[in-house]
Amino acid sequence: MSSCWKKSNVVAGVSIAIFVSIMSLSYLQRKKLTSLWVYEINTSSIVIPTTKWCRGIPSNNTITPLKDHRTFIIAPYFDNRKNKVTRVIAIVHHNDVKELYCWFCHPSNDEIHISKAEIDVHPDRFDFPYGATDLHCPEPEDWEPRYVSIHWSPDGNIDHLPLFEIKNREPEGSPVDFTVCISTMFGEYNNILQFVQTVEMYRILGVGRVVIYKNSCSPLMEKVLDFYIAEGVVEIIPWPIDSYLKVSSRWHHSMDPKDIGYYGQITALNDCVYRNMYKSKYVLLNDVDEIILPIKYANWKTMMQNLQEQHPGAAVFLFENHIFPKTVFTPTDMFNISSWSAVPGVNILSHVIREPDRKNFFNARKMIVDPKKVVQTSVHSILHAYGDNIYVPMDVALVYHCRVPLQANLPRESLIKDTTLWRYNVSLIGNVSKVLQHIAL
Ligand SMILES: *[C@@H]1O[C@H](CO)[C@@H](O)[C@H](O)[C@H]1NC(C)=O
Ligand SMILES: *[C@@H]1O[C@H](CO)[C@@H](O)[C@H](O)[C@H]1NC(C)=O
Ligand SMILES: *[C@@H]1O[C@H](CO)[C@@H](O)[C@H](O)[C@H]1NC(C)=O
Ligand SMILES: *[C@@H]1O[C@H](CO)[C@@H](O)[C@H](O)[C@H]1NC(C)=O
Ligand SMILES: *[C@@H]1O[C@H](CO)[C@@H](O)[C@H](O)[C@H]1NC(C)=O
Repeated sequence: MSSCWKKSNVVAGVSIAIFVSIMSLSYLQRKKLTSLWVYEINTSSIVIPTTKWCRGIPSNNTITPLKDHRTFIIAPYFDNRKNKVTRVIAIVHHNDVKELYCWFCHPSNDEIHISKAEIDVHPDRFDFPYGATDLHCPEPEDWEPRYVSIHWSPDGNIDHLPLFEIKNREPEGSPVDFTVCISTMFGEYNNILQFVQTVEMYRILGVGRVVIYKNSCSPLMEKVLDFYIAEGVVEIIPWPIDSYLKVSSRWHHSMDPKDIGYYGQITALNDCVYRNMYKSKYVLLNDVDEIILPIKYANWKTMMQNLQEQHPGAAVFLFENHIFPKTVFTPTDMFNISSWSAVPGVNILSHVIREPDRKNFFNARKMIVDPKKVVQTSVHSILHAYGDNIYVPMDVALVYHCRVPLQANLPRESLIKDTTLWRYNVSLIGNVSKVLQHIAL
């Protein structure tokens, strides 16, 4: 009975007689439905605003800490691909968080449905104490919740808990073909020239939208982003993860023992997949210094049409990552790009020499996925999908990755000249110059 008493606090100001009827009704419902804890209150006998149970505080933030400071909610997504659940993308402390409850409130009557969340910490945590986590919340059987709160207890007053709108319930609008997910922009990012070149390459290859989980960037970069937001190309997801957790700039805990790896990159990628599940036919999961560059085809669309025809059961296409060191230059005098010299950042047209694969090393891959078939993703592989993995060979496409070298000591003659990028020189140079002029850089 004590739990019922706590719950009755919510109904302050109503007579004891009504309390008793509510409690007995709740009690009956709890007995009747043993696996589901349903509290149904008959509102025709008492006047309570219908939003009574939904009066948590709507959260508009991309990262919302719960009171325990061990659980951070990103967003809930409806997922009925296997069972009918609300899948809440979250970050939790893998050891400290053992129990969470999903409080669904009915949109129009005073019904609340509480289910115990299955806490599924993704296996790719790399020893950091916090990791990307799915909370699986079984939904009510006979109604569709629009909001959910997450609480450590199935009892108590949830009035002031953050309330999250459940996304993906209704597929919206007509989807684009390709969305690139960039997780995460951090460290006062100011590599303007490489960024503009990269986004223009994505556009030439067929991108519909570039989603950027933004932690921090320079004021100049802010200006560039504003331009692309106005163009409808870039969507910014604020990602203030370092306000809550100590972030590592390395991938493994042993290299930099903080709370979470790489600014919570894996969580951002998973959120991006679900966020774009019905908004994009394909999602590209790569970093801001990477371009999945077709070799056999002119753009992503013809490439994916062909690959998908060859592999109808595929969910995930993996592309080999190749390092084009930004320390190794090739002259670009033949290109009309002198107007770019004042723009800060790397000019990728100068970097068309790549490192050979390292023997006996894991050569990373990046992915193009069908988001509707993905359940959980990591950075270089999909952890769980409804479909096959396809390893796309090098003669079809590669990941052009312009960064600091991995094999800095190799002599230049051991490196490989690869001018695939230059095939796009005419449209790339024209389009980049136009953008730089427009932003007045
Ligand atoms: C609610 O209570 C009223 C009055 O007691 C009753 O007539 C009605 O059938 C109840 N409604 C439901 C849905 O139980
Ligand atoms: C959240 O967004 C809604 C609508 O977009 C707005 O009405 C509300 O004030 C926002 N809440 C907060 C806390 O910013
Ligand atoms: C070189 O590019 C600039 C724009 O950046 C353009 O105005 C100029 O006409 C170009 N010159 C040639 C020779 O194409
Ligand atoms: C630039 O692209 C054109 C085709 O658009 C090609 O003919 C030319 O060879 C390319 N330039 C270089 C230096 O690769
Ligand atoms: C980029 O350049 C090509 C060829 O010059 C042009 O057809 C295309 O519209 C340009 N794209 C954008 C986004 O400006």
